[in-house]
Amino acid sequence: LMPRDLQGEHILVTAGPTEEPLDPVRFITNRSSGKMGLAICKRAQIRGAEVTLISGPLKAEPPNGIRHIRIRTALEMRDRVLEEFPRASAVIKAAAVADFRPASLERDKIKKDGMEPTIVLTKNPDILAELGRTKRPDQILVGFAAETRDVLENGRSKLKNKNLDMLVLNDVSKPGAGFDCDTNIVRFLFRSGEEEQMDIMSKEKVADLILDRVIRLRSKTE
Ligand code: C5P
Repeated sequence: LMPRDLQGEHILVTAGPTEEPLDPVRFITNRSSGKMGLAICKRAQIRGAEVTLISGPLKAEPPNGIRHIRIRTALEMRDRVLEEFPRASAVIKAAAVADFRPASLERDKIKKDGMEPTIVLTKNPDILAELGRTKRPDQILVGFAAETRDVLENGRSKLKNKNLDMLVLNDVSKPGAGFDCDTNIVRFLFRSGEEEQMDIMSKEKVADLILDRVIRLRSKTE
């Protein structure tokens, strides 16, 4: 029987992709299914945490009994995350937030009889980096990174630049890892410099291992 070892914790989870509109009927998105974030919500709830999920469109239903805030764009996600952040003891940012959005939103549907359109993109704010700049010492910040090249180097610099306590690195170029599958292959990187490489396992198992480490990190802040 799993102990309710997250009782008293308020875990804020983000999951899924964001949608960045171009015109009233079109948007740019990515392949995130939200499965990793949902697995974290499920396990955190079973282990006694109060869970708030902020997500884009998901390919599966969130567990009953958690608070679910639905958003579409990265800018909406930013607003809601910043609003919820002060109440959270830990934030686990599993969402695949779009790094860019169309620079302008066309009021009417773009027609095909005109010239071929050029889509100009602009950078979205990095929500996790913003949390890293404003977090309290008692708040644990966990980020995800999906890399296809220079996986470790990119992960280590992300951990540092975003001021995270922990980074979950997945090498999405490996079969059985990353987007839209039920398993993952991850490596945990910690602020302390410690690193742990995990074998292939279910996303629920990964979720439990992440939550174990969140508890350990939280206990060091008290
Ligand atoms: O830098 P990169 O986007 O790869 O970092 C991934 C991590 O940062 C994820 O935890 C993701 O949820 C978060 N992120 C964010 N805001 C963005 C982009 C990524 O919070 N605009």
